[in-house]
Amino acid sequence: MSEGRIPEHKVDEVRLAASIAEVVGRRVKLTPAGKSLKGLCPFHGDSDPSLVVNRERGTWHCFGCGEGGNVFTFVMKDEGLSFPEAVKELARRYGVRLPKPQLTPAQKRQDEHRQRLLRVMEMAGIFFSEQLAAPAGAAARRYLTEQRGLSPQVTAEFGLGYAPDSWEALRRHLGGKGVPEELAMQAGLLVPRDKGDGCYDRFRGRVMFPIADAAGRLVSFGGRVLGGGEPKYLNGPETPLFNKSATLYNLPRARRHMRAKDRALVVEGYFDVITLAAMGLEETVAPMGTALTSPQVRRLKGQASNLVLVFDGDDAGRRAARRSLPLCLAEGVSPAVLLLPQGQDPDSFARARGAEGLEEALGQARPLLEAVLGQIMAEGDRSTPEGKSRIVAEAGGVLKAVKDPVVSSEYLKQMARGLGLAPEVVAARLGLPAPGSGRAPARPRPAPRPAPANSERQWQEVILQTALAQPEAAQVLAQEGLLAELPQEDLAAVARAICAELEAGGRPDPAGVMNHLEDPALHGLISRLAAAAPNWPAGEAAAHARDLAAQHRRRLLGQQLKDISRELDRADQAGDAAQRAQLQARRHELREQLKSSLPQGKD
Ligand code: UTP
Ligand code: MN
Repeated sequence: MSEGRIPEHKVDEVRLAASIAEVVGRRVKLTPAGKSLKGLCPFHGDSDPSLVVNRERGTWHCFGCGEGGNVFTFVMKDEGLSFPEAVKELARRYGVRLPKPQLTPAQKRQDEHRQRLLRVMEMAGIFFSEQLAAPAGAAARRYLTEQRGLSPQVTAEFGLGYAPDSWEALRRHLGGKGVPEELAMQAGLLVPRDKGDGCYDRFRGRVMFPIADAAGRLVSFGGRVLGGGEPKYLNGPETPLFNKSATLYNLPRARRHMRAKDRALVVEGYFDVITLAAMGLEETVAPMGTALTSPQVRRLKGQASNLVLVFDGDDAGRRAARRSLPLCLAEGVSPAVLLLPQGQDPDSFARARGAEGLEEALGQARPLLEAVLGQIMAEGDRSTPEGKSRIVAEAGGVLKAVKDPVVSSEYLKQMARGLGLAPEVVAARLGLPAPGSGRAPARPRPAPRPAPANSERQWQEVILQTALAQPEAAQVLAQEGLLAELPQEDLAAVARAICAELEAGGRPDPAGVMNHLEDPALHGLISRLAAAAPNWPAGEAAAHARDLAAQHRRRLLGQQLKDISRELDRADQAGDAAQRAQLQARRHELREQLKSSLPQGKD
């Protein structure tokens, strides 16, 4: 896609045009609470409103899950968009015109080609829906309602359609609209004839499922044959629009439900998705008739912390479950798996047992890792030493992909118990650290250093809170040098962004400062700091900031004095008279400075 960088002043324009209350208010009901607005946080299971929106500052912050940021951060999280996508979306909503990105001529041609393909897909989508409603679609309508139990509303919601049983219904329709056949072939809708010229409709006599990409644009179709016939499902081919291995059916609609429920369900088929969604399990998606892929797992993992794979309870389902484990582990995701009773798929199971029955079954889902290790144990030969060794080797391949050493060592112990082996032996066979040996594997990945919650950190946070409270305060603190030397990297990054905004002549309010930073963790930090920032009447901020700067200087003097006392002790013990005299002189100087820095009249 065309991804030219959006100029910063345009980003600012969009931010100022967008109302934070409106943007958040579209998603959650906000009620006034003092100077701010409050509502239920859409990003975690919130029961007591912990999301606070500060209109003045243009920020939001959730005191429950710690998420927060500005309008862009909210839209990014809520709609699963990248930063430029969020800016574009809000620019569209608030009527801000963004400059056309600078594209090379080749990029421009490619972009225009994609736009044309998208329009052809849209036309086809409309044609298929019209055909479903037309007399030609009577059998398909009956099939959907009678055999698949879908109401016309649900059918319409998912945009289902019907491709008439004809070689050229769509070809003629598109031709009549002036679409070149070449373009419709590139879109995957028409197929060139083997012999001679010309082309024909790819989808004939099928119920049509429109497939959207992550941004919700119609990029392909899946088609199920009516009644019998081969293949049962036909999917569109890879095209410039449609990347099968990265696409998940229903993802754009499911995303917000995944985030709200903190759960994503992955099933195999289109009808599984639709039946479950119609029953209220709207956090459901399916891959494109293939096993789950890494790009798909990556798309899911940011949406919910619980991923549940639901498979048919046959051998194929078991194999599919097993195949998806290594790539989930490689992405650092530990899914749960639900294997349905033999002969059932999510669609038939949900229709037989209802949403409650399915929810109950989902409660029984167990970690996929446990299920796969169980399968390996059950299928192997546990009666001979050689058989046990093969089981260990096979399970080892899985365990080694587990990133969390606690998890892998616990499963290793379980497996050893099941095989009647000592855990140390199993570990040795696999070259893994022995569980419970107390010896840590050589240097585990360095965990991000948690910020120490000591008074020094708190003090630094107070400085930033003050800077974020009002631009005048930031100005003073920058002049006094307080923003130049924060020792902790995350706080220093925020301080640098504040200074950058000041230097650019802008107002370093929280939302503006966030524009300089891409790391969402820092957006969270800023919104937390801003939420705790003092609310001074206009005109008083500069004075408060000067007070703070004076306090800061006294703090530094105090620390230096402490250091000198320590050195004096050392000089005493060493009997170093010259050093002692020097230190005493320095101490005197510092004490004088401290005295003169104290507020008048309080000495
Ligand atoms: P199933 O054969 O389990 O189909 O394939 P299903 O979804 O239960 O179909 P119904 O209920 O008989 O209509 C599961 C999924 O595998 C893909 C499709 O995405 C299907 O939904 N598939 C199946 C194909 O791509 N091609 C096929 O020929 C069959
Ligand atoms: Mn089925």
